[in-house]
Amino acid sequence: MQKRTVIQAAVAAALLAASGLGLAQDNKFKIGLILPMTGPFASTGKQVEAAARLYMAQNGDTVAGKKVELIVKDDASTPDVTKRIAQELVVNEKVNVLAGFGLTPLALATAPIATQSKTPLVVMAAATSSITQASPYIVRTSFTLPQVSVAIADWAPKNGIKKVVTLVTDYGPGIDAEKYFKERLQFNGGQVVESLRVPLRNPDFAPFLQKVRDDKPDAVFTFVPSGAGAALMKQFAERGLDKAGIKLIGTGDVTDDDILNSMGDVALGVVTSHHYSAAHNSPANKKFVEAFMKANNNLRPNFMAVGGYDGMRLIYEALKKTRGAGGGDALLAAMKGQIFESPRGPIYIDAQTRDVVQNVYIRKVEKKDGQLYNVEFDTIKDVKDPGKSK
Ligand code: DHB
Repeated sequence: MQKRTVIQAAVAAALLAASGLGLAQDNKFKIGLILPMTGPFASTGKQVEAAARLYMAQNGDTVAGKKVELIVKDDASTPDVTKRIAQELVVNEKVNVLAGFGLTPLALATAPIATQSKTPLVVMAAATSSITQASPYIVRTSFTLPQVSVAIADWAPKNGIKKVVTLVTDYGPGIDAEKYFKERLQFNGGQVVESLRVPLRNPDFAPFLQKVRDDKPDAVFTFVPSGAGAALMKQFAERGLDKAGIKLIGTGDVTDDDILNSMGDVALGVVTSHHYSAAHNSPANKKFVEAFMKANNNLRPNFMAVGGYDGMRLIYEALKKTRGAGGGDALLAAMKGQIFESPRGPIYIDAQTRDVVQNVYIRKVEKKDGQLYNVEFDTIKDVKDPGKSK
């Protein structure tokens, strides 16, 4: 016990010392990008890294007289590993910013490192509402599940969906999605008749979908993390839920642009709410999608890529604003309140919550030129994370 306290104190001292050294460094500005690059969530790492590299290719690697260096590390989506890597990056590499964070538990495990070392931590992917409350040094450019779950709970009852079963992945973002969808649907006169939760690791959706089928709801509302949607959609069709007249609705994570095209026609007509679609109709997005696909062997960018791209912009602009001087606190202050047009539409970083405020779109999967896309047909403007007011 005592030994542990001594070690913890030593680590804390090293972290704090490291934070002061940021200034004394040479002309480098280091960004430690920690992502799942292997394992079941590797697509998130691939998308975020590709977008970060694209941003740097388009905007150069010299900012305010500093040479920007991106240090990419694979945490294999293991929280202890993410935390250890972050500690090494702060103490040994003296990174100026920590970034990435592909899953909620990885961001939460690392939050104390950001606090102790006064290093801004930019969450580019993870989306549980409470993450930004885990450290005053956390800023987010992705989204939150409460932010996107409410809109589909408003849309559903107006479109004949009153009786719903929820089916979510059993951890932070899924529990947020379940709660905010249910509350809002009930407020709108609808009903959640059963709430099912699927394990994060090695999910088998089949027994859960069988339960949904037996419940005979108008729809199943789902949240699954990026990458898991194809398996869910396949089993949804195999169990004959579509034939039984049960609709599938959800947050846009399930019809993720990274895998949407491989899902086939079972995805056609699926309505979801989310903050980004590769089909978003704006000149800024067209330019982004084209450049991303060109640089990545025709890979379509998804919402993870946009979180990474905008996160890099946030860091670049903060570096410009502070003119390359000042430590973590100055950078953090320069990140708060930023406002700009993202490929997803206009966004801003709420200075109080350090969370992203953005439009949420209702979208339907349609075929365009033989390819499946989430086509946006309604917009709810400037949505704040409703999780922050509770
Ligand atoms: C999280 C991960 C995802 O892949 C996603 O689509 C949404 C949220 C998360 O762990 O926070």
